[in-house]
Amino acid sequence: MIEAGKTYVVMGLLDADSLAYAIGTTISALGGKVVFTVQNEVFKRRFLDSSKKLSDEEKAALDFRFCDITKDDQVRDVFAELDPVAGVVHSIAFANPRTCLGEELHTEAIDDITLSHHISCVSLATVARYAVPAMPDGGAIVAMSFDTAHVYPHYNWMGVQKAALEALVRALARRHGRDEVRFNAVSAGPLHTKAASKIPGFGGLTKLWNASSPLPWDTRQDKQAVADAVVFLLGPRSAKITGQVLNVDGGASVMGGGLMEHERGNIRDAEAAPEEPPGQ
Ligand SMILES: NC(=O)c1ccc[n+]([C@@H]2O[C@H](COP(=O)([O-])OP(=O)(O)OC[C@H]3O[C@@H](n4cnc5c(N)ncnc54)[C@H](O)[C@@H]3O)[C@@H](O)[C@H]2O)c1
Repeated sequence: MIEAGKTYVVMGLLDADSLAYAIGTTISALGGKVVFTVQNEVFKRRFLDSSKKLSDEEKAALDFRFCDITKDDQVRDVFAELDPVAGVVHSIAFANPRTCLGEELHTEAIDDITLSHHISCVSLATVARYAVPAMPDGGAIVAMSFDTAHVYPHYNWMGVQKAALEALVRALARRHGRDEVRFNAVSAGPLHTKAASKIPGFGGLTKLWNASSPLPWDTRQDKQAVADAVVFLLGPRSAKITGQVLNVDGGASVMGGGLMEHERGNIRDAEAAPEEPPGQ
């Protein structure tokens, strides 16, 4: 899965609820050396102050770098310092909720749309530009997406950024295959994080998953399933997989409509239930 002792850069840590945190701790548990990036010093202090779930020892064990993904020099410096790197996780997105996640597609907010596109999509190419030279033995880069086959209420411009991000994953897979660097995305179902809390109607998404996901979906616990899939795509067991989007969403993205009544029950419980005695 993860190559013990090698360096993995996990970009986009905000707090202990971040997908980046679940992914980074999973990599660490498997023996990888994890370096998190946080946007800046203020975010790091906020992380340390707000992460009440973590002990002082856990906080002290974390290795941080600062990196605003829109600043090329900061991305360059991270990978120049950490070379050689075996894997990178791009777990970063941003959209102004007022203009990019509302009910209408606000084209007049072009600066917000452009910034969202830069941070949520183009930055993966910036990462590739500086990370690939720091991967002399090849490696893997994984980005985080959300179902682009369907259109969700309020997701608005972020849905467009995710579709572009997946296209960029494929373009980078093509460009860097002969560098033996693989690019894939994990498309996760809805999970409770700070970014998710900014999406108006996030509760509606949770209800939708309850109604339509074949597998039960837990918006808090299932971060681990997402982290496990990222780890698979980072490591040698996915050696010939590149340019792909792996859905880790309980199966909701394949559904055309909600589960029917009889599909919501648990067939094992139904089979285990004692039969009614005849005639009663
Ligand atoms: N939470 C979900 O339901 C869900 C589902 C599918 C995909 N995702 C994706 O997972 C990724 C991580 O999001 P999350 O849900 O863990 O939320 P999060 O808020 O914990 O993480 C988002 C991160 O993006 C970072 N970021 C924003 N602008 C930045 C910039 N200019 N430079 C550097 N970092 C910047 C933030 O600092 C934050 O650390 C995102 O790509 C998100 O779209 C989330």
